[in-house]
Amino acid sequence: MNLLFQQALFNNIWFIMKETLRLHPPVPFLIPHKAETEVEMCSYVVPKSAQVLVNVWAMGRDSSVWQNPTSFMPERFLESEIDVKGRYFELIPFGAGRRICPGLPLAHRMVHLMLASLLYTFNWKLAHDLKPEDIDMTEKFGIALHKSEPLLAVPIKV
Ligand code: HEM
Repeated sequence: MNLLFQQALFNNIWFIMKETLRLHPPVPFLIPHKAETEVEMCSYVVPKSAQVLVNVWAMGRDSSVWQNPTSFMPERFLESEIDVKGRYFELIPFGAGRRICPGLPLAHRMVHLMLASLLYTFNWKLAHDLKPEDIDMTEKFGIALHKSEPLLAVPIKV
């Protein structure tokens, strides 16, 4: 693989990863937080000791922030600085601040490596001749987000 191709593949996978984490954050409400003191935020009062769930799933689909929020469009990140490392509050699938996921650097490298290896090593088709637009994207909510119907993809040796 030449260096230019490697760089292009890396960038594309980075956009795909961000878009996937925007639409399908694996931890949709982060981990429950607790307010240490009473705070006022956007004219709402959060009382001391309240349990706070941050709905990153809804934040990723907020039409006041994202254009065509329910469409999968990795190219939206082509001209954008936004990343997932806790600096841009519109996209915080790993949380932000002092309780940000400590596994972020490992997850970041591993997801890139796994996805790039799978795409580079195999061609893929859907099981039972399913068309991409017919994939059931319904989700099951819990601490972690799952697909209701698991994806069945068949690797074909290149
Ligand atoms: C794509 C993969 C991953 C995602 C999306 C993810 C997401 C998250 C999120 C949203 C939180 C809660 C942050 C908050 O409430 O502000 C969290 C916490 C945590 N994650 Fe991850 N994580 C991933 C991978 C990993 C890996 C690979 C490890 C360890 C090797 C890890 C270890 C932890 C730990 C220990 C915490 C608790 C931190 C604390 O509460 O202080 N995570 N993660």
